[in-house]
Amino acid sequence: MAYETILVEQHDAVGLIRLNRPEALNALSPTLIGDLNAALDGFEADRGIGCVVITGSEKAFAAGADIKAMKDFTYPGTYIDDYITSWERVTRMRKPVIAAVAGFALGGGCELAMMCDFILAADTARFGQPEIKLGVMPGAGGTQRLTRFVGKSKAMEMCLTGRMMDAAEAERAGLVSRVVPAADLVAEALKVAGVIAAMSQPVAMQVKESVNRSYETTLAEGIRFERRVFQAQFAFADQKEGMAAFVEKRPPAFKNA
Ligand code: CAA
Repeated sequence: MAYETILVEQHDAVGLIRLNRPEALNALSPTLIGDLNAALDGFEADRGIGCVVITGSEKAFAAGADIKAMKDFTYPGTYIDDYITSWERVTRMRKPVIAAVAGFALGGGCELAMMCDFILAADTARFGQPEIKLGVMPGAGGTQRLTRFVGKSKAMEMCLTGRMMDAAEAERAGLVSRVVPAADLVAEALKVAGVIAAMSQPVAMQVKESVNRSYETTLAEGIRFERRVFQAQFAFADQKEGMAAFVEKRPPAFKNA
């Protein structure tokens, strides 16, 4: 399917979504969010896809919500339309999603990256929540997710001043999993996604669900959830295959069963 604001590719069992509004540094317009959500729906429903990568261009992952579209919004309108809530489709993906970020990831762009399961950054990546400079605050989870990633002090400074952090600072602060040379970003993201997609798909989905629990519940409840899911995995043929393959010194051939 052809979209107006994104490019969609399939690389074996990996779905790749490239945000593609170069004229606006991939600003997240309502059309782009609609296109992104439709592509995510497609990959979620496709049994042949085991992992999804979202990336932007060399210059920008996304420079935030579309300010030109947003500047005339009203309070009743944003309230009635529940503006931003539709952006959260990516957080409901059951399959793993990687954000591959080069260039600017600002405002909603930084927030979209943080909604993914982890962020792989190019050495050119720059992250920030500059909304305060526009007379508003982050509205797609920035005050909440950035604080969980980097702690109160740095999140507070970023959200109150709107300054950007570079890739090295983002890695030190725990915002990104790794930094790679910009020229290698998409290839590296596809490689990592390919590793994940080669695992047992239901197990990878359960790993994701369990890690996410750690943000939503107490340690005791999270451990209990993990234990029950781990025990249930002994009902998967993929557990038999994975462990037999180890003993027989061969690579496993998972069947997602
Ligand atoms: N919305 C709409 N258009 C945008 C945009 C945005 N968020 N960011 C950039 N653009 C447009 C620019 O207006 C410009 O278009 P024109 O050529 O028509 O003027 C084009 O993209 C290129 O941008 P610049 O000329 O500004 O490029 P630059 O390299 O000089 O600067 C930048 C890059 C520092 C990222 C700068 O564009 C910028 O500050 N952008 C806005 C960043 C921002 O404030 N984001 C937060 C948005 S609010 C938000 O996201 C709310 C939320 O929490 C959901």
